Amino acid sequence: MPNLTTRVAIVGAGPAGLLLGRSLYQAGIDFVIVENRDREYVLGRIRAGVLEQGSVETLEQLGVGAGVQANGMIHDGIYLQFASERHHVDFSDLIGRTVTIYGQQAVVRDLVDAHDAAGTPVFYDASDVAVHDLTGTPSLTFSYNGLPYTVKADFVVGADGFHGICRQSVPADELTIYQRDYPFAWLGILAEVAPSTDELIYALHDDGFAMHSMRSPTVSRLYLQVDPADDIASWSDARIWDALHARLGVPGWSLEEGLITEKSILPMRSFVVSTLHYGSLFLVGDAGHIVPPTGAKGLNSAMSDVTQLSAALVAHYSGDDGLLAGYSDVALARQWKVQQFSQWMTEMLHKRPGGDATAAFDYRSQLGRLDYVTHSDEAMRSLAQQYTGLQLT
Ligand code: FAD
Ligand code: DHB
Repeated sequence: MPNLTTRVAIVGAGPAGLLLGRSLYQAGIDFVIVENRDREYVLGRIRAGVLEQGSVETLEQLGVGAGVQANGMIHDGIYLQFASERHHVDFSDLIGRTVTIYGQQAVVRDLVDAHDAAGTPVFYDASDVAVHDLTGTPSLTFSYNGLPYTVKADFVVGADGFHGICRQSVPADELTIYQRDYPFAWLGILAEVAPSTDELIYALHDDGFAMHSMRSPTVSRLYLQVDPADDIASWSDARIWDALHARLGVPGWSLEEGLITEKSILPMRSFVVSTLHYGSLFLVGDAGHIVPPTGAKGLNSAMSDVTQLSAALVAHYSGDDGLLAGYSDVALARQWKVQQFSQWMTEMLHKRPGGDATAAFDYRSQLGRLDYVTHSDEAMRSLAQQYTGLQLT
């Protein structure tokens, strides 16, 4: 039975786990990453698309910024659209900051390539991954190529996403879960067509939310608000394009259609655990918190957690435990600000289902909010600060 000893055992090779590994590699701290999906699955997963300026800087500092430098698309702002009018919120003019469109899939590919080049230990396609003795001498066990492995470590990091095992390994009475569901979901498509817009469009329409994003000069990413109970099979390509034309259309502008290469329905949820630290276990990214996607904060939050935890681990191995002790509080303080922003964007831009008086009131109130936000420099500056990324406090 292979037995390994390392300093940091990381569960999950999503963006959070791969980034933490890269950061520890640069700091000369031994680690092992264990992932229960195969490499092709990890590389093929299509998710977020917007990087905050701080996230781009993190990739550059870790020597994995060449891809985003070459292919990232710098955006100065976004469009907010309602009542058939499109309004530009210019982050660059308002606060001198920008965001970069660069798919999570590309971030993961760059990190996987860097791990391959460095020959660092990433075990893909592991099974029966389990963590043990989190308040004593922690270890990780798993099966790999039919062999049982044990990894002894100083610390275990749960970078295993919302459905992972690490958070679930914490005794229930040590954690409180704060959660909120929404009565809508996103249907997302990738289409082989040049974007019909220079900046991302977030639109509230009588039929519900729609959004136009992109992945490259030849690939568009579009989203539609749908019922969470909807089956993707009931959304033909023609029905999707019809809904996108209706919700994104404004006079004098048209949406170009293209071949749809991927379509899926994504649930929406807000979720935060009360602590990201238990014994020798630290949680990063979706393992500890989830936001609804409006505002593009999921990936960026994972990267912010990793930046902070990595610095704390480096300080620990230099004899200073202060940052590690404060990790959970500092990361959660930032996360709660991100949570309220994501909730605010979501509730401003989605139409509550049902034709009752409350839904009718809320819709008009949302239009009022959008009218206020798009005509107030103070409100737009606040949106710009939050969208381009909060600094750690
Ligand atoms: P993940 O990316 O979930 O990575 C966790 C990794 O751990 C995975 O590779 C998983 O296979 C692995 N794992 C799980 N369990 C185990 C186990 N037991 N043992 C070993 N490995 C395990 N955010 C946005 O901002 N905009 C978007 O448009 C957007 N779209 C999304 C669409 C979907 C379908 C989902 C699920 C999320 C989306 N997000 C979006 C959120 C964003 O993608 C996440 O916040 C981001 O992936 C978090 O990274 P992570 O590394 O923490 O978690
Ligand atoms: C994308 C996703 C988001 O959640 C968002 O707010 C903006 C863009 C995207 O996938 O491109």
